Amino acid sequence: MKQHQAPLWDALAAYRDKQVLPFHTPGHKLRSGVFSTIRDELGEGFFALDPSDEVESEPYGNDFEAVLEEAQKLAAQLFGAQNSLFLVNGTTGGLHYLLAPTTGTVIVPRFSHQAVYSGLALSEGAISYIPTQYDPEWQIPLPPSPDQFESLLTQNNCQAVVLTYPTYYGTVPDLSTFVNVAEEHQVMVFVDEAHGGHFRFSSKLPKPALSYGVDGVVQSTHKTLGSFTQTSMLHSNNPIWYEKVLQARDVLQTTSPSLVFLAVLDEVRRTLAEKGQSLVENTLYLAHECRRELSQIPLLQLLPECLQSDPTKIVFSLREIGLTGIAVERLLRTDYNIQVELSDYYNVLALITLGDTKTSIRRLIEAIRDIVDRRSHLGSTPLPRHKVDFPPLPKAVMSLREAFFIDVELAGITESIGRVSGGFVTPYPPGVPVVVPGEIITAEIVEYLLWCLQIGWPVRGVEGKKMSVIKDNRDF
Ligand SMILES: Cc1ncc(COP(=O)(O)O)c(C=O)c1O
Repeated sequence: MKQHQAPLWDALAAYRDKQVLPFHTPGHKLRSGVFSTIRDELGEGFFALDPSDEVESEPYGNDFEAVLEEAQKLAAQLFGAQNSLFLVNGTTGGLHYLLAPTTGTVIVPRFSHQAVYSGLALSEGAISYIPTQYDPEWQIPLPPSPDQFESLLTQNNCQAVVLTYPTYYGTVPDLSTFVNVAEEHQVMVFVDEAHGGHFRFSSKLPKPALSYGVDGVVQSTHKTLGSFTQTSMLHSNNPIWYEKVLQARDVLQTTSPSLVFLAVLDEVRRTLAEKGQSLVENTLYLAHECRRELSQIPLLQLLPECLQSDPTKIVFSLREIGLTGIAVERLLRTDYNIQVELSDYYNVLALITLGDTKTSIRRLIEAIRDIVDRRSHLGSTPLPRHKVDFPPLPKAVMSLREAFFIDVELAGITESIGRVSGGFVTPYPPGVPVVVPGEIITAEIVEYLLWCLQIGWPVRGVEGKKMSVIKDNRDF
């Protein structure tokens, strides 16, 4: 089987072409029928390509599982893994499969995505956090250092570390040293590479995590590589752990994964094998041009290269003209019909991917230039400095798992001081939880949250100035 083939995509298309009369699920019977609105938007073809788990492929005895396996082998070959798994529940699902089987202590940088936390809530393992350090100028989370990691390895029964590579903002930890330290202590390394699937396709980008010999990697193929939303891939170079991953997948994944989604992963893999390098080269060129033009806009600040290893993530700030990143995001949407990936107090993140063109980049640059021109006329003053520091890690009085499923109630933010959090409270972005289930809510946490709300920073886990606390009134 060669990279120019896409066995799953082809077997799905062949089933459609054969026009088999379906007396099987799904209920739409491969025709739009009464669903004319869906047909008008998605086309008749979408129904015809959704035959539950039927395929037409003689070499594989029309066996969907066998064809899928072949498609996954091709993905493994392309990405440099021993095994690859197509995922229909995003990187979230992949992280759950990697983490649910853990039983020992897992070391987790605190700024990890919530999927890492929920994966660990499914496991018997304990968590040891690496606190987040922020860049003082840009207030973006910095990658954890191998020293921070090593200092936690003195604890008993460390089983794994989960690293985010790259972060949303394009920063990366020193993976090579992490892997060496982990090997010395016989600890597995899992990598959340949700935002780094494209690393495989250019030597100008950080090396892909798999090339460091890590045990497991999950990539959101949909985020930077163009498959449909919710489709991801898990890659593994640890066959023993991979068996456990498959067991977890069998429990946690639907028994009816969408064939369309799986086949799209296969077809995207074929395209990437054929043209991935030139597509990513072009993306890098566009990102470079975007950055170059933005750098000429007065008072606009670009995240310096020393803080960022992935140039496809354009992080900029208009704080010098008094605008928070959040305000810039809103302006771009309301006045220019442009939506960026995220914003925070200082920064805006615009993602450049292989789906971009010179025209899309031009529109973005012109819109930003226009915002600066408009604002400069008003004689703006710089944004006040980010005043309230991110609170220190609070004390945990029960395990994440125990607190995750415990009875909770809502309490006013200020009244929550001293109580045990029943939920995640996360200013988003960048998505670093200030408190997670089972931790004590401190006065510093409340002060920080009130400040976030005051400046209009969305905080997940706070609704109507209330947050979740556990009902349990034991004396903690
Ligand atoms: C760092 C990180 N990890 C994991 C995820 C989850 O990925 P998915 O949306 O593919 O489930 C995200 C999603 O935003 C993310 O930013």
